[in-house]
Amino acid sequence: MLRVGMLTSGGDCQALNATMRGVAKSLYKSDKDVEIIGFLEGYKGLMYEEYRVMKPSDFSGILTTGGTMLGTSRQPFKLMREPDANGMDKVEAMKSTYKKLKLDCLVVLGGNGSQKTANLLSEEGLNVIGLPKTIDNDLYGTDMTFGFQSAMEIATNAIDCIHTTAASHSRVFIVEVMGHKVGWLTLYAGLAGGADIILIPEIPYDIKKVAEAIKIREKEGKKFTILAVAEGAISKEDAALSKKELKKKKLKDAGRYPSISYEIGDMLSAETNVDVRVTVPGHTQRGGDPNPYDRALSTRLGAHGAELILGKKFGRLVVLKGTEVTDIALNESAGKLKYVDPESSLVREARLVGISFGDK
Ligand code: F6P
Repeated sequence: MLRVGMLTSGGDCQALNATMRGVAKSLYKSDKDVEIIGFLEGYKGLMYEEYRVMKPSDFSGILTTGGTMLGTSRQPFKLMREPDANGMDKVEAMKSTYKKLKLDCLVVLGGNGSQKTANLLSEEGLNVIGLPKTIDNDLYGTDMTFGFQSAMEIATNAIDCIHTTAASHSRVFIVEVMGHKVGWLTLYAGLAGGADIILIPEIPYDIKKVAEAIKIREKEGKKFTILAVAEGAISKEDAALSKKELKKKKLKDAGRYPSISYEIGDMLSAETNVDVRVTVPGHTQRGGDPNPYDRALSTRLGAHGAELILGKKFGRLVVLKGTEVTDIALNESAGKLKYVDPESSLVREARLVGISFGDK
């Protein structure tokens, strides 16, 4: 009997179910007698022994569904070594559940923090396989994470919808896009939606340059300007601050603005006299069903994960490199973020079509 534990961890995204299905279908097709244990709400289920023994039918009809059938939760990596409210050692509790259930392997569908914990458990002697989830596409070592393309579609739709109203009212619109500390989602949605200005964390902006880009458009007779702003966008002044100084500043500003876009909106109104509106699609970007690309990618990633399990190749993160699905050591990725390279052709091409990053 091959006993495989599975959990979905961190913020949800599209194609979690499709990925679990990819793993399960491939395992059930093998010549092994397979039992899959689904832990509920991520690492919490593994810590507190909350799980479901899955049936093959649980993995049917879920290729196209959003969310995660197992539920998820955020269990920050930095708290993993801290005892829980009742003094329980979380890592020891997870190891104990794994052993008690006689698991041969644990499959973790998660982003950065979750894969760091996966690596920790692997270093603690468990057999672990990671699958690269996140709408942020910031997981180091993979060219693409599942969820990203579906989220990009939603963020792009938001920009598309803003286009018609922006044109009717001759206004400046800011669409705030998720992505945590990186700009992948904003940059791709901005390109796909035809944003005029794109602000991402990797290219700190100068508000005067952003205002200048709007004024240039006005001079060119353009009646509106659309900005795609990453939730992690940062000004040149703030980027120059130390971590401590930035934290202090953020604490001081807390409550004044619900998010960075509102602050940018205020500054732009002051600089340009234009009417600015802010739209925050927020968690809609993580919602709904996976798009065809994500369904296909997830199926491939899941199948590769199953191949690793059957080949007893553990401590690996399944990744996409170019067009090939392959795997790398979990510790090669753990703790590193994949940023947009400001010198990449991606940014250069965006500049070539006239997009301003508010930096020059
Ligand atoms: O990592 C996915 C993500 O949606 C980020 O883009 C965003 O910063 C964060 O999660 C939001 O987290 P939460 O759902 O916990 O508010």
